[in-house]
Amino acid sequence: MIRARIIGTGSYVPDRVLTNREIEKKVDTSDSWIVERTGIKERRIAADTQAASDLAYEAALSALKKARLKAKDLDLIIVATVTGDMPFPSTACLLQAKLGAKNAAAFDLGAACSGFIYGLHVASGMIRSGMHQRVLVVGAEVLSRFTDWQDRSTCILFGDGAGAVILEPTREKHGIWSTHIYSDGNLADLIMLPGGGSHAACSRETILKKLHHIKMKGNETFRVAVRTLEELAEDTLAKNDLDPAKLSLLIPHQANLRIIQATAKRLGLPMDKVFLNIQKYGNTSAASVPIALDEAVAEDRIKGGDYVLLEAFGGGLTWASALIRW
Ligand code: UT7
Repeated sequence: MIRARIIGTGSYVPDRVLTNREIEKKVDTSDSWIVERTGIKERRIAADTQAASDLAYEAALSALKKARLKAKDLDLIIVATVTGDMPFPSTACLLQAKLGAKNAAAFDLGAACSGFIYGLHVASGMIRSGMHQRVLVVGAEVLSRFTDWQDRSTCILFGDGAGAVILEPTREKHGIWSTHIYSDGNLADLIMLPGGGSHAACSRETILKKLHHIKMKGNETFRVAVRTLEELAEDTLAKNDLDPAKLSLLIPHQANLRIIQATAKRLGLPMDKVFLNIQKYGNTSAASVPIALDEAVAEDRIKGGDYVLLEAFGGGLTWASALIRW
């Protein structure tokens, strides 16, 4: 049986750190409220000169280096993003050019915070079917450019960054055992960026109405996320016939520490088996899981043979999981 295996991970976050204390000066909030309700202490903000493809490029270079591959070895590039450089061409095509990955087809994938795991699902399917051999999957976001810095309920949450993996086929037991993707468009209005598309193309009016900023019904989203992610984690392990006690590491989407703690509790998983970097980066949407995965690898939190569970939840609504035997 052929499955996809991760042979290199990489990540990149911009240098600029924005602390809760600095946000206290912009809106009516406090460091203690943000830490208590979300677990976030600071986040990274892209420089004015950096777009999503620039962040993706740094993460991809790092993943290529660790996989000991050249860009020309890639035959497919998938970039998961909701804050791409421009409506078209795709950020994946812009990244392909920057990398010089001339043998790769390239496209973007939009599934908000679940985008990276959606990307793994697509890439894994392509590899299993034999259609592609060396696939780069990137999650890259510059959310700070679409954040309403006057809205205290959202501006505290988001940050910028990118994470990447490179996949290739294997006949061994190690690799991506299963991926699962789900959506519910009926709950689209819980979290959205309404302006800039064909629904509300950019105009003076859309700018005045702040339609080019992320809108979120935070508390409702929170409740659906807790319920959905708890069930998703249990279900993914059950589908792989894996007892939660055998799980070595849970790498969740870093949206809210309380959501992550609820999932861990439901699985009976101690928090030292859960990878957290939300305190440093906040919610980086599609970049969150691959940045965390790369940091977990760098920190030696994952060893050969370990079972690693990835899961995410976001706008769409979308949610997704992957079980990996490292
Ligand atoms: O990545 C996609 C998935 N995203 C998520 O899953 C995020 C889900 N949502 C959340 O993380 C949380 O809902 C938030 C952190 C956004 C908000 O926390 P909450 O505990 O759900 O608060 P809330 O929205 O119920 O608001 C409680 C109170 C309100 O005040 P009143 O009406 O009780 O007087 C808000 O106005 O907290 C107030 N509030 C704030 N206070 C200080 C909202 N934002 C802030 C703030 N600082 N930044």
